[in-house]
Amino acid sequence: MDKIVVWYLRMSLIYFTAGAAIGLGMLIWPHEAGSYTAVHAHLNLLGFMSMMIYGVGYHILPKFSGAHIYSPAIMTVQFWFANAGLIGMAVSWPLKMRGSMPSLSGAVLTLSAAVSLIAIFLFAFNILKTIKPVEMK
Ligand code: HEM
Ligand code: HEM
Repeated sequence: MDKIVVWYLRMSLIYFTAGAAIGLGMLIWPHEAGSYTAVHAHLNLLGFMSMMIYGVGYHILPKFSGAHIYSPAIMTVQFWFANAGLIGMAVSWPLKMRGSMPSLSGAVLTLSAAVSLIAIFLFAFNILKTIKPVEMK
């Protein structure tokens, strides 16, 4: 398995444990939960689920297409964008919800969200350029 694929999977599982732990925290401290719902949802959905799909997709979709990945460089750049974006969102989102440093946390959140979106575009581009129909045997 490609080294970067292993890193996508590792990070996915780290976000899963963090997202689930925050979920438990939200049950234990319900009065604080509102500030953490978005970060819980996105650590699980953008962190665990999407990061797992990035890793598994990069591993398996080229094989299904009988091709190599279109751009290994994009695969690595996207990894850093996806992680920087999500970590930025995870740190700034609760701060913004709690009204701490609203303009700074709001700016970091918007920037991080844009970085996450760029990672999604890079994945879509790289996979769309890779997949092609193959003859069924
Ligand atoms: C130990 C595991 C988990 C715990 C204890 C947990 C707990 C919670 C809690 C307490 C809420 C707030 C519910 C509310 O007040 O409306 C919530 C919301 C949410 N959780 Fe989890 N959760 C867990 C795992 C997951 C996983 C694995 C996912 C996704 C893959 C997920 C996705 C969501 C989403 C999307 C919301 C927001 C729902 C909404 O918009 O109201 N959770 N979770
Ligand atoms: C660039 C990536 C993304 C950005 C910038 C983003 C942004 C947002 C924002 C601003 C909200 C409203 C939060 C609130 O104030 O309650 C939201 C909610 C939500 N998003 Fe995303 N999102 C992204 C990706 C995703 C993905 C990939 C999924 C699912 C696979 C997802 C699932 C959800 C869900 C379930 C909610 C409702 C959770 C809640 O109640 O807070 N998002 N998202």
